[in-house]
Amino acid sequence: MEKGRLSRPFFFAVKSRNSSLSLTSDMTKKYTVTAALPYANGPLHLGHVAGVYLPADTFVRFQRMNDADVLFVCGSDEHGAAITLRAKKEGVSPGEIVDKYHNLIGKAFSDFGIEFDIYDRTSSKIHHETSSNFFKKLNAKNKFIQKSSEQYYDEDYNQFLADRYITGTCPKCQSTDAYGDQCEKCGSDLSPTDLIDPVSTLSGKLPVIRKTSHWFLPMDQHEKWLRDWITKGILDGEQQHDPKAWRNQVTGQCMSWIDGGLKPRAMTRDLDWGVKVPLPEGEGKVLYVWLDAPIGYISATKKWAAENNKNWEDYWVKEKAQDRKLVHFIGKDNIVFHAIIFPILLKDHGDFILPDNVPASEFLNLEGDKFSTSRNWAVWLHEYIASYPDKTDELRYVLTSIAPESKDAEFTWKDYQSRINSELADVFGNFVNRTVVLTNKYYDGLVPEQGQLTEQDQQVLDDVNNACLRISDLILKYKLREAQGEMMRIARTGNKYLADNEPWKLVKLDASRVETIMSVALEITRCLSIAAMPFLPNTAQKLQGFLNIDAKKWSDLLVSKLVAGTKINQAEILFKKIDDEFVEFEIQKLREKSKQTSKFPPMKETIDFDTFQKMDLRMGKILSAEKVEKADKLLQLTIDTGIDTRTVVSGIAQHYAPEEVVGKTVLVLLNLTPRKIRGVESQGMVLMAENEEGALSFLETEKEFLHGQSVS
Ligand code: MF3
Ligand code: ZN
Repeated sequence: MEKGRLSRPFFFAVKSRNSSLSLTSDMTKKYTVTAALPYANGPLHLGHVAGVYLPADTFVRFQRMNDADVLFVCGSDEHGAAITLRAKKEGVSPGEIVDKYHNLIGKAFSDFGIEFDIYDRTSSKIHHETSSNFFKKLNAKNKFIQKSSEQYYDEDYNQFLADRYITGTCPKCQSTDAYGDQCEKCGSDLSPTDLIDPVSTLSGKLPVIRKTSHWFLPMDQHEKWLRDWITKGILDGEQQHDPKAWRNQVTGQCMSWIDGGLKPRAMTRDLDWGVKVPLPEGEGKVLYVWLDAPIGYISATKKWAAENNKNWEDYWVKEKAQDRKLVHFIGKDNIVFHAIIFPILLKDHGDFILPDNVPASEFLNLEGDKFSTSRNWAVWLHEYIASYPDKTDELRYVLTSIAPESKDAEFTWKDYQSRINSELADVFGNFVNRTVVLTNKYYDGLVPEQGQLTEQDQQVLDDVNNACLRISDLILKYKLREAQGEMMRIARTGNKYLADNEPWKLVKLDASRVETIMSVALEITRCLSIAAMPFLPNTAQKLQGFLNIDAKKWSDLLVSKLVAGTKINQAEILFKKIDDEFVEFEIQKLREKSKQTSKFPPMKETIDFDTFQKMDLRMGKILSAEKVEKADKLLQLTIDTGIDTRTVVSGIAQHYAPEEVVGKTVLVLLNLTPRKIRGVESQGMVLMAENEEGALSFLETEKEFLHGQSVS
């Protein structure tokens, strides 16, 4: 059974005392690797990078070094409430939002050296076609159940409230900011009606219930095969994958859902942004973003194949891709979608392979707190790159060192400093620098003869050999963090070897022994320059430049040895040390930015009572309201203030229709200097409350007071 070979290393060492490294290959040679499509609703932060994109890229780099036929796809997820809510908040169209962030994220990936074969987007034509056809096929095969159900509805906005359009208290962990589809705190899969005290994120109000009809995926009918497939790796009586190769938390989360009983889940939504339901009865509805987005992996493959003269079916279609592994790199909040829902859809469709593994990561925290976009508690990838364009390998190293592979982890700038200084600079950099500098100094840069190896020399070379074996084994098991640790072990071994042998002291006493020592050190450096390639691509390349070699393959560990007498180059410093000011500066910056965007803005300057008294605040009654021409945010209000009737222009048109505000008694500031807005003179200001999402609400009185009353 081909899959049974999974746990064996890619290279086998042939134990022999006179060749330091002997390797043979053994691995699956075909992979379709996907990395979760990021929502194009905001930039990426280090948590995303550490959990998904960096491990995927490291894995793929290693595969490419082994001549594997690997396709690495990603792209922007441009549908769903994540996008429309963000657009509303920024006051622009969803199209503008996705264009902005698609470009920003795509550029950050390429600047950081995450090398996808394609970075596509779900707004593309090919994706709309692909997901639409996928839906039609499942519908034709009767894989959905169309039924009407009661759903929450926001009457102020005339919209059904699914997913992120509704928040409330999680019934499982009591967190107060659970979404209608998921609680981010405990990871539970929810539906809006599970929420306690549901609130519309649009109006901030309690929603009403209305009937609507949707296409449901009867997930409950799939429990049996899912159980076998997830726990045993068996599908349709055949061994598909090694279940032990799946991370515990992935299997665990899946099984807890299945054991809890899967429920039918709506695969369509009442929205106008997304892939239209391709059926006459689907008017006004779109596909659920979690149906369309993973199909984006397939659409992206089609696009790449068309541009590269390949057949996309070789990467996805059962008959052509039997010997191929489909691997989804994701964060833990995506487990149910990639390990349960998408597999159901793929199986229902019938043509496609199912994932071989779903290496999901846990979460990364930042300086003692969760990453948070709304509180701006984050280190953004594009900002890091803009500040430190020549420190991308340093960041890769730190993030892989703390990768949240099996439990939550934490990024701190202090830890960043200490890993760079005491590991990269003091060990890796120091070893390489000493080796290259001494070779130049003693031998004019010419590689010395190896001569007679001692037991200890041989032992050191064996250690390096074994570290390389473990790296390939660990990478194939998606243990990138440990694998990088083995790479570092090579540098540590080399560093210790030089410190133990002190060639700089011995050179006067035993020149020929020093030749051997330097030759061994150079061989370790060479191995390091190859073993570092999946983790520290720029450093590996620089290092190969010092050694004057150009290794591209993992198998070069074996073959491209330095020949005595060949010339190497001068070294440069690989890693600069990070000082305490750097750390202070970054922490300070983080605090400042987060304060500025806190959901409660900082208090304004104190004013004295007389200043306060100068404001003439009254309750006024809105007599009429109309839209201001060519200004989609403005309403022109006529207000009875008790002492007069006046015109006030107010920026509430996106929150209230004119007919909704007429008759309301509202708080008005009367003695504000009149101001012309779009040609209309505004004589005062209506006071409103605003929530985090930017929704507005009038300040209303508890009892029905007379308008005209002054406020104190
Ligand atoms: N956009 C989703 C998120 O950020 C991930 C989508 S992954 C895909 O959580 F499979 F749906 F593409
Ligand atoms: Zn919860």
